[in-house]
Amino acid sequence: MPSTDTTAAPAATTAHAPARNLLDPGFELTLRPMRYPHFYERYRDAIKNTWTVEEVDLHSDVSDLAKLSAGEQHMISRLVAFFATGDSIVANNLVLTLYKHINSPEARLYLSRQLFEEAVHVQFYLTLLDTYLPDHDERVEAFAAVENIPSIREKAQFCFRWMAALEGADGAEGAERIDQLESASDRRRFLLNLICFAACIEGLFFYGAFAYVYWFRSRGLLHGLATGTNWVFRDESMHMAFAFDVVDTVRAEEPELFDDALEQEVTSMLEEAVEAELQFARDLCGEGLPGMNTESMRAYLEAVADQRLLRLGFPARYGSSNPFSFMELQNVQELTNFFERRPSAYQVAVEGSVSFDDDF
Ligand SMILES: [Fe+2]
Ligand SMILES: [Fe+2]
Repeated sequence: MPSTDTTAAPAATTAHAPARNLLDPGFELTLRPMRYPHFYERYRDAIKNTWTVEEVDLHSDVSDLAKLSAGEQHMISRLVAFFATGDSIVANNLVLTLYKHINSPEARLYLSRQLFEEAVHVQFYLTLLDTYLPDHDERVEAFAAVENIPSIREKAQFCFRWMAALEGADGAEGAERIDQLESASDRRRFLLNLICFAACIEGLFFYGAFAYVYWFRSRGLLHGLATGTNWVFRDESMHMAFAFDVVDTVRAEEPELFDDALEQEVTSMLEEAVEAELQFARDLCGEGLPGMNTESMRAYLEAVADQRLLRLGFPARYGSSNPFSFMELQNVQELTNFFERRPSAYQVAVEGSVSFDDDF
């Protein structure tokens, strides 16, 4: 006799119910119909932006390094020590957190591509360190910077703390990791992790590092480093743009997550990132070098932080303006070289993506 129980839902809707929102738990597999075509377009754009470490010629850097003053050499050694681990930290978070919780196969395609790009960045900085630091012990020390150099350790600790944001009970030690973003509080923690990595790490720590590189470049030095950095810079701009797209999508789907408390937390997170990067700047600049010192770096970082807040739909915090004109000039110049050199390999339309505001 057929069952008359009408309370049981059909199996098809319980076992394979499609997710309604991007942060709903699960592993969506269906690409047609495509829920988020803009993520797929970002994946396709990233594929067109492929470069390899072997294309970067570091030969002239070695003779440039010998010409640097003691202060400049100190700056470079700190910079490469930061580069030694920065992208690995980002890659780990991508796998442990972002890939898991952004529930869209088209977004996961992008994240897979981003993971590859982070691997290329890690390889680039590995090659850079091998070239810049021929001494074995110096090299080992640079790779241990997250433990041994206070200004780098502080930045790494900041990253690790926000990686732990997905651990239960406010990230308390030993607490279980949040496996599924069930509650509004879980989702806000996820958003803080995502925003931290995009706005503070890729979007501020790395942008700080890029400024030192372009400062050298503006004086005709370290051409190889500047070339690789420009390609990394482009990739990082795209990683950030994708992450902000995810934020926009979540905001459209679940606007109630974006309350005053979230705005407050994001603003103080950026303040903390600016302070950590400034401590790094004090370490790098010492008493200051012509055209590069802690105060100008402060204005630059504050201007960058304001850009991130505005992009996230929050008010600016500092009202500072960027004092580093070489950021704009170097970027545009390198992009021109890039297009001239590789007209077929690089096909992304440039409108909007080379303007200072966008890439900055
Ligand atoms: Fe990277
Ligand atoms: Fe990145």
